Parts: sequence; structure tokens; C-alpha cells
Amino acid sequence: MKTSIRTHEGRVALVTGAAQGIGQALALALADRGAEVIVTDLTLPQETVNKIGPTGHAFQLDVTQEEDWRSLLLKGRDVGEVDIVVNNAGYFPNRFIDDLDLATWRKTIATNLDSHFLSAKYFLPGMRKKKWGRFVGISSNMVGLAITGMSHYIASKMGIIGFMRGLANDVANEGITANAVLPGLTNTLAIAPQSEEQKRAVWDQQAIKRLGEPRDLTGAVLFLTSDDAAFITGQAIVVDGGQYRIG
Ligand SMILES: NC(=O)c1ccc[n+]([C@@H]2O[C@H](COP(=O)([O-])OP(=O)(O)OC[C@H]3O[C@@H](n4cnc5c(N)ncnc54)[C@H](O)[C@@H]3O)[C@@H](O)[C@H]2O)c1
Repeated sequence: MKTSIRTHEGRVALVTGAAQGIGQALALALADRGAEVIVTDLTLPQETVNKIGPTGHAFQLDVTQEEDWRSLLLKGRDVGEVDIVVNNAGYFPNRFIDDLDLATWRKTIATNLDSHFLSAKYFLPGMRKKKWGRFVGISSNMVGLAITGMSHYIASKMGIIGFMRGLANDVANEGITANAVLPGLTNTLAIAPQSEEQKRAVWDQQAIKRLGEPRDLTGAVLFLTSDDAAFITGQAIVVDGGQYRIG
């Protein structure tokens, strides 16, 4: 039986794009460790809060809309002041550079990058008051892979790493950290259209030869959002079974 260690007791965590996939797994894991979890998505993520139980709180949040962030800050106060922000919502259409239009570019950057800035704008002041806070941005190991049709996505996901580095510098003396987590190919609805052969071609390049599951991301995020990771900031942690290797 799995041991539940209540490392996140007393914390309030906010997860975006948490109706399914990686976001849902992260919300469940944070709740399992004792956090109250503000579970958000484009529409109310009811299934996720049903799975969590009373410590899960569903809110609608379109991460591209500043007004939604502002109103979440007010509505979420009933749960408590947010200590942990996990920006997970993502948009990832495949468009070869010749077919990429400005609307797709802008939606990708708005969903995958504006969201990180907006979360800091609205939730940093509360963390500052407590002198404790954690930002985790879900990037992608695709930033280091030779995959076509994803220039807009790779730009946004590199942007997350850059933003976390800059944010980390600005809040370094206030007990607040900011880090990026880079998943590899992970078994969610987002990759359902890919054939088994396509998926295998990816995980065959990993040291650990299997497809990643959403729960594989939970360890890195739980660690980075814990007290144990207080001296780790501005970092990018790859969680992909050893596909992307640095140096
Ligand atoms: N699945 C993978 O292989 C993989 C690999 C690397 C990185 N990632 C990243 O992990 C994150 C989660 O991916 P996933 O596979 O779980 O995707 P998914 O499509 O299963 O879930 C994404 C969630 O984000 C929500 N979302 C989309 N746009 C939104 C918006 N504007 N506002 C609020 N919510 C919005 C969707 O409604 C959905 O519930 C994404 O950032 C993705 O880029 C995924």
C-alpha cells in the first residue's frame, strides 16, 4: 500500500488545466499530500474534485483571460491564500512553419506563456505576505527535440523556462521559488490521436522504455512545491524517462 506523507498540509495549491491528463494527476497528488487544491480549467473540472473529495475546489479559469485570474483571486480566497501555483494548461496544435498563422501563434503564446505571467501578477502578493510560495511551470522536453511543426509551441515552452528563471531572481529573498518541469511524451487524451507506432518511436529513445503516465510527473512537482526544495529555484527539471540528455 502507498504511504501518504502529508508534506503539503496547510498549503493551498492552484492547478490550471486540471480537468484531465497531467493537470488532474498533479491536483490529485497535491491533495493526497494534504493540500487544499483549487482545481481549474476552461469549464468546471467536476470530475477532478469528485476524485479529490472535500479538499478539492472547482473553479472556471481560462488562463488567457486576465479578468478570469482577477476573479479567481477573489473567489479563491474562500479556500485560502494560494501558496502554490502549478501552471499546467497547454495548447499544442501541430503546424508546420508555412501553415502557422498569427492567430494560432498568439493563442499558443497566450495559453502557454501569458498564463505564467498572469498567475504571478495575481498570486505573488499573497505569497509575499507569507514569505513562502512556489511556482511550477509545466514546460516540455520538446524544447530539446527535433520535432517538426511545433515552432510556436517550442517558443512558448522555452519561454516558460526563461520566465521561471527571471521570476526566481525577482522573488529570491522572499521564500518563493519558481521552477519549470519538462515532461516527455505522456499518456493523456492530448496524444490519443497518435498511433501506437508513433508513441513507441518516441519512448524507444528513452532510457526507460515505456510511455510516460501522468502520475510520473507528480514526484517532481510534489518535491519542488515542498519545504525540502526551498533552495532550488530557476531550474528546469526534465521528467521523460531519460530521452533528453544535457551535456
Ligand atoms: N501529454 C504530453 O505528451 C505532454 C508532453 C510534454 C508537455 N506536456 C504539457 O503538459 C501540460 C498538460 O498536458 P496534457 O497532456 O495533460 O494535456 P490535455 O489536453 O490532456 O489537458 C490540458 C488541459 O488544459 C486545458 N486548457 C487548455 N486551454 C486552456 C485555457 N486557455 N485555460 C484553461 N485551461 C485550458 C484543457 O481544457 C485540458 O483540460 C500541457 O502544458 C502540455 O503542453 C504534455
